[in-house]
Amino acid sequence: MTKKIFDEKVKILQNVKVNQKYYKLAFASPLLAQKAVPGQFLQIKIGEGNDPYLRRPFSYYRTSGNKVEILYEILGRGTRMLSEKKAGETLKVMGPLGKGFTLTPKGKKRVLVAGGVGVPPLVFLAERHAAAYLLIGTKSKAEVMPKSELKNAKAKILYSTEDGSYGVKGRVTALLEKILKKEDPGKIFIQTCGPKKMMEAVIAIARKYGIDGEASWDENMACGVGACLGCMVETRSGRMRACADGPVFPFKELVIP
Ligand SMILES: Cc1cc2nc3c(=O)[nH]c(=O)nc-3n(C[C@H](O)[C@H](O)[C@H](O)COP(=O)(O)OP(=O)(O)OC[C@H]3O[C@@H](n4cnc5c(N)ncnc54)[C@H](O)[C@@H]3O)c2cc1C
Ligand code: FES
Repeated sequence: MTKKIFDEKVKILQNVKVNQKYYKLAFASPLLAQKAVPGQFLQIKIGEGNDPYLRRPFSYYRTSGNKVEILYEILGRGTRMLSEKKAGETLKVMGPLGKGFTLTPKGKKRVLVAGGVGVPPLVFLAERHAAAYLLIGTKSKAEVMPKSELKNAKAKILYSTEDGSYGVKGRVTALLEKILKKEDPGKIFIQTCGPKKMMEAVIAIARKYGIDGEASWDENMACGVGACLGCMVETRSGRMRACADGPVFPFKELVIP
């Protein structure tokens, strides 16, 4: 069955800074909200004209009723322009795009591993389906999400910070290994999203323990709908489009350099 994609002009309800790292933007759209699953994303046209020329991809952070939220960090010109938008202004938004996470891997305890722009889809996943753990890696305490943003996540949430200012000191992968040592690897399923280096390290650990999982392999995107072939990912089944065949891929499919 082909999934329907909508391109809507939406009115911004809220666009606020939630901590030193993230902004949260909310809008209402029944068509973009109702069938979205965690791991899917939206293509947002940020400027009125051709600046920036391409739409920018953002994961669904949360939907409730007709409301959609995204959580974003400022990386460049497009996200800076987005952060300057005010409630009442409009955006063109296309979605829901891509393939989301497996929601209920049979008989497995799920461990979610997030960093950077991987936090929003995994918080959404933990809100929709209970997981054993949600592990979040940040640089320091200033990037830790406010508790109010995580109150509906059905998982034990543990942090690692690189400077040790909150949670366990070190990388989130060290935290993951600590947890895995206490668990039966045969019963674990890992789902991850974040910087490529982090996901590669997560997959290496999963392979060492013989654990299955999925990664949201976010490539820079142009069209977002499978037409331009600008987002190709090397997989064991050949080159795939991150936007349309992913962004979520099974660990066993991904060819890690
Ligand atoms: C499927 C998908 C889901 C995403 N979800 C989110 C989200 O929920 N929240 C969020 O903040 N961001 C998310 N991103 C990343 C977001 O799309 C980029 O941050 C944004 O496009 C940057 O646009 P810009 O104009 O600000 O920066 P640009 O000027 O385009 O780039 C600025 C810098 O950011 C880097 N960059 C651009 N795209 C990415 C990317 N995909 N990953 C890592 N670095 C990038 C560039 O290489 C460059 O160094 C997602 C990306 C994908 C592909
Ligand atoms: S972004 Fe065009 S095919 Fe993926």
